[in-house]
Amino acid sequence: MLTTSKSVNYRNFGFIPRKNFKENVARWLFGEANLFKRLQARDIMDSLDLKSSDTVLDLGCANGYLSVEMAKLAKHVTAIDVNPYVKKIQTPTFLQEKLTFIHGSGEQIDLADASFDVVLASEVLTMIENPKSFLAEIHRLLKPGGRVVFVNGVGRPNIKEMYEKNPESIEKYREKYGAAVPRSYDDYIAKLTLSFGTAIHTLLSEEEYEALISQSAFRIDSVVNSPKKIAADILFHEQFERFVKTGSGLSSDWFAPKFFYLSFLSLFSRERSKSGAIITATKVT
Ligand SMILES: C[S@@+](CC[C@H](N)C(=O)[O-])C[C@H]1O[C@@H](n2cnc3c(N)ncnc32)[C@H](O)[C@@H]1O
Repeated sequence: MLTTSKSVNYRNFGFIPRKNFKENVARWLFGEANLFKRLQARDIMDSLDLKSSDTVLDLGCANGYLSVEMAKLAKHVTAIDVNPYVKKIQTPTFLQEKLTFIHGSGEQIDLADASFDVVLASEVLTMIENPKSFLAEIHRLLKPGGRVVFVNGVGRPNIKEMYEKNPESIEKYREKYGAAVPRSYDDYIAKLTLSFGTAIHTLLSEEEYEALISQSAFRIDSVVNSPKKIAADILFHEQFERFVKTGSGLSSDWFAPKFFYLSFLSLFSRERSKSGAIITATKVT
């Protein structure tokens, strides 16, 4: 029987059994097949710093892979997503009392004020038209002194550098793929985020997130750049090549070998990538 492990496990992080047996075997072995998030997983969990007394809200939980790991540590996790898939997630038996999935929008949540000690908003702020109303809702739902962890992609520094400092590389792509190669870095990000289905077709910078969060009555406690630069650079170079070839930046091929290879390289590298920011903030008023 393929079951979810009872403690946080970074080998098969986020595994929740589903109906498809073959898919279950792959996920039980290797966990959630989201390369970027898996490379950030330890930093996200460290920033959350959950205690067994914490009530947690996971906003934009998708298939619940982060929710399930948080529920292993916290008192209770409420996980919300607008995607109706959330209703199909099978909560592992040992987490039945500790994890609730709700189908709905994080912009207006039918829960009482000051319900949560911790909120996670991972890669969701740019999914919605009005991040300010989303932040106001997070503020309302947090207890006084409650914490929120925002995880966001904030750029593709190595691709920006290629456009700005190495135009001959871009020319080589153009010779091969013609008009499929975006005109500029900003054009690339706009097209990439469009292919991801986000509402805002740009990646806000770390500073823009910090300003948005500070203006919404939160005090920023820490900012952790994640993952390691070496892994992010390889991943984003590959994503750029895939984008000019196919028009999409999404990948699901060869997750396990890529994940273990990039994790291995990351062990020997200190430098962190400015492509992702994990921002922890406290409710101040
Ligand atoms: C990019 S995914 C991130 C999923 C997960 N949090 C992670 O970090 O991997 C964004 C998720 O936010 C959800 N979402 C978008 N708008 C939302 C809203 N207004 N309220 C709740 N969830 C929303 C989407 O359905 C999607 O599952």
